Amino acid sequence: MVKICCIGAGYVGGPSMAVIALKCPAIEVAVVDVSRPRIDAWNSDRLPVLEPGLDAVVRACRGRNLSFSADVDRHVADADIVFVSVNTPTKARGLGAGRAADLAYWESAARVVAAASRSGKNKIVVEKSAVPVRTAEAMERMLLAHSGGGGATFQVLSNPEFFSEGTAVRDLLCPDRVLIGGRDTDAGRSAVRALRDVYAHWVPEDRIVTTSLCSAELSKLAANALLAQRVSSVNAISALCEATGADVSDVARAVGWDDRVGDGFLNAGVGFGGSSFQKDVLRLAYACECNGLPEAADYWRQVVAVNEYQKSRFVRRVVSSMFNTVAGKKVAVLGFAFKKGVGDTRESPAVDVCRGLLGDRAHVSVYDPAVSEKQIRRDTASPAAAKAQAHQQVLVARDAYEAAEGAHGLCVLTDWDEFRTLDYRRIFDGMQRPAFVFDGRGVVDVGKVREIGFVVYSVGKPLDPWLKGLPAVA
Ligand code: NAI
Repeated sequence: MVKICCIGAGYVGGPSMAVIALKCPAIEVAVVDVSRPRIDAWNSDRLPVLEPGLDAVVRACRGRNLSFSADVDRHVADADIVFVSVNTPTKARGLGAGRAADLAYWESAARVVAAASRSGKNKIVVEKSAVPVRTAEAMERMLLAHSGGGGATFQVLSNPEFFSEGTAVRDLLCPDRVLIGGRDTDAGRSAVRALRDVYAHWVPEDRIVTTSLCSAELSKLAANALLAQRVSSVNAISALCEATGADVSDVARAVGWDDRVGDGFLNAGVGFGGSSFQKDVLRLAYACECNGLPEAADYWRQVVAVNEYQKSRFVRRVVSSMFNTVAGKKVAVLGFAFKKGVGDTRESPAVDVCRGLLGDRAHVSVYDPAVSEKQIRRDTASPAAAKAQAHQQVLVARDAYEAAEGAHGLCVLTDWDEFRTLDYRRIFDGMQRPAFVFDGRGVVDVGKVREIGFVVYSVGKPLDPWLKGLPAVA
């Protein structure tokens, strides 16, 4: 029986291994993590990751050929194929701070694999984390340095994950493509074949693409950078739409009809979020910088700069619309996750918008169907504000109506479907006058809510007459 072990039981490791276990009953899959609470959660009825369909997949395989364990060393030593799916955040300090990857978790995982060389078992090591280009080479070097006495051999492959949070299970079951990068040597090709055989249990052969190690690593960064760049492009257009009276939805639709452009990822909004986009764009820029390509680095950095601009433009719009002051005013925030269908708040624009409003001394009242109060408080906490004061300034509501009760303004920051069908008349009745809606996700029917009596701002849409008279904010 082939044994697979995955180091890192996070958003990627958990779902991707659960699907392998589901589709390959003859393969034993162990997902390991240094975080005991994470492992306990995977072994409980409340999984640590919210993904439609995931509960059913885990239930079908856990205890059969899928296990979650904190015994990292043992499972790594036993495995034929080791996936490395640990977090690779951006460095907070030191060389390359704010741009380069912090590879501390990756290195600690690599060292565990290297130590397992003592077991003498040959292994295929699969890089699943999004890593800087040529990280696989570094892994090879480290494994080589350790394997001297053990007699084990390693082949390192790159197999980046392309699923989208919120549709992870669907994407894993029917991927657009599976990318495997490996060495063009006999041993390298044989390792690629072994991993290919795993995916071939359910992925059509023509969707399993093989490349060099380096190309596979760069493809992951390039894919995220291109997606983020589309969002920033349409968001830059949205600012011009507001200034000229054009409607960004009409522009995006008209442009998207062109096959060469396509219509995906052209929704204007308050900005992109999630753990990957900003990080991978910055990483790509840093790689350009390190390879003596400053113009290319500047180009990619601008994608992130426009995203920052879009978030601060939104906050400025809220403040300027409400008579240039939100101090002491209650502002309802609907949606805190970075997108609908997930409970993940990493790099969520809602975090920055809330911090911006809190900085202007607003009281924010947040409702999100999938994010816990603890998480909202952690994300909005400011080192500068005293704990008691911060607690007072942030309220966490049980539903949208409670969040909006007595509020001066309401911001929609996540595209949850339930925000499309709210009773906006009821919300309006409970709010202060004038009552403002600031739609950062294009979910509100602008005509309808304006008719109710709201002053409405929706990113990239023609401005409400109320807002037109105000000083420009762009
Ligand atoms: P995560 O933070 O949810 O999970 C990583 C896990 O690795 C954590 O539970 C951590 O405790 C564990 N870990 C760290 N070092 C360890 C070690 N030495 N031994 C054992 N466990 C260790 O991260 P997530 O979101 O799963 O991302 C993993 C990688 O996949 C990142 O490189 C990310 O860029 C990439 N990725 C993420 C996607 C997403 O949608 N979240 C999509 C595609 C790729």
